[in-house]
Amino acid sequence: MKAHNEKIRWGIVGLGKIAGKFAADLALDKDAELVAVASTSLIRAQEFAELHHAKIAFGSYEELFACPEVDVVYVANVHSQHANTSISAMQHGKHVLCEKPAGINAGEVQEMINVSRNQGVFFMEALWSRFNPSIRKVKNLIDEGVLGTLRYVHADFCFYALDRDENGRLLNPALGGGSLLDIGIYPVFLAYLLLGLPDEMDARARFFHTGAEVQTSMLFTYPKAQAILHSSLANNAKMEARITGENGEIYIDPRWHEASGFTLIQNGEEKREHLPVTGKGYFHEIGEVHQCIRRGVLESELWSHYDSLQLIRLLDQVRERCEIHFPSVD
Ligand SMILES: NC(=O)c1ccc[n+]([C@@H]2O[C@H](COP(=O)([O-])OP(=O)(O)OC[C@H]3O[C@@H](n4cnc5c(N)ncnc54)[C@H](OP(=O)(O)O)[C@@H]3O)[C@@H](O)[C@H]2O)c1
Repeated sequence: MKAHNEKIRWGIVGLGKIAGKFAADLALDKDAELVAVASTSLIRAQEFAELHHAKIAFGSYEELFACPEVDVVYVANVHSQHANTSISAMQHGKHVLCEKPAGINAGEVQEMINVSRNQGVFFMEALWSRFNPSIRKVKNLIDEGVLGTLRYVHADFCFYALDRDENGRLLNPALGGGSLLDIGIYPVFLAYLLLGLPDEMDARARFFHTGAEVQTSMLFTYPKAQAILHSSLANNAKMEARITGENGEIYIDPRWHEASGFTLIQNGEEKREHLPVTGKGYFHEIGEVHQCIRRGVLESELWSHYDSLQLIRLLDQVRERCEIHFPSVD
């Protein structure tokens, strides 16, 4: 276990867009030190290390996993590589924070969990919205019964991406591309967080000429509620989340997955909550990883192994309904 005067030493692998944003938030946490970064391209690693003040740049992930100065690895490469990259890091004794989706199917996620437990290292899917201050507060209010019996959740995640590189990770099914695992995971997460597992589900998807699914609508049915969920790479949307119970409503500000506030309506009265995020919002999940590592636990109570497994099982079920396939990777 780490002494309290020692910083948590991070390594980052897969140095694309999200890795840069994450590194900027890591720099805001006084408890963190970015020690090493690794990419399949040494030049990309060196440039990233210079920009984000990392001490060491590696041209392969394996070298970073073997580096004794790294405590925890942030895995930020494409979906289809999350499982094998995280497993390799954990087999080298590193704790892991892995970008969402943890794996592209439940089999992969179960294997990641098994390795975490066998190796005795911390593992968490970077489902950062779970640590967003507004979403935490909304979850607590609902659990306290402020809305009464929950009846309806409406959440979406959309942005236009049909003009992107067809071989890139969003539109290429061989990389786990499509809207569902990239952004549909967020509305499915919100429904799971607030309502648990549905009794029934229905879903329909539309596909791009690359074979990638680019628009999916989902209807989840619970004993006392329904959730209407949508993800799309074919259009933009406001992205306000709506949550309604018998005693009130909550509207999480757009874009709800990274919200800085929400509105609670009860008895015709509106109450605003302003809960700003720190940095881009990744700061909050980073704090959770630090706390868990310091406590010597293998998983977060707020976003546990079980939660990641249930979430990917729901996504697997949606994929089955809509016949969404990732050729050659699952
Ligand atoms: N939490 C969030 O808000 C958020 C936001 C965006 C994305 N994400 C997640 O983060 C992950 C990366 O997204 P991104 O937008 O950062 O992706 P990206 O910039 O397209 O690529 C990230 C890295 O993945 C590797 N990579 C790219 N193309 C590849 C290919 N064809 N085959 C094998 N590896 C490839 C490269 O790693 P090397 O540098 O090692 O070559 C690249 O630097 C995704 O799983 C996504 O779901 C999360």
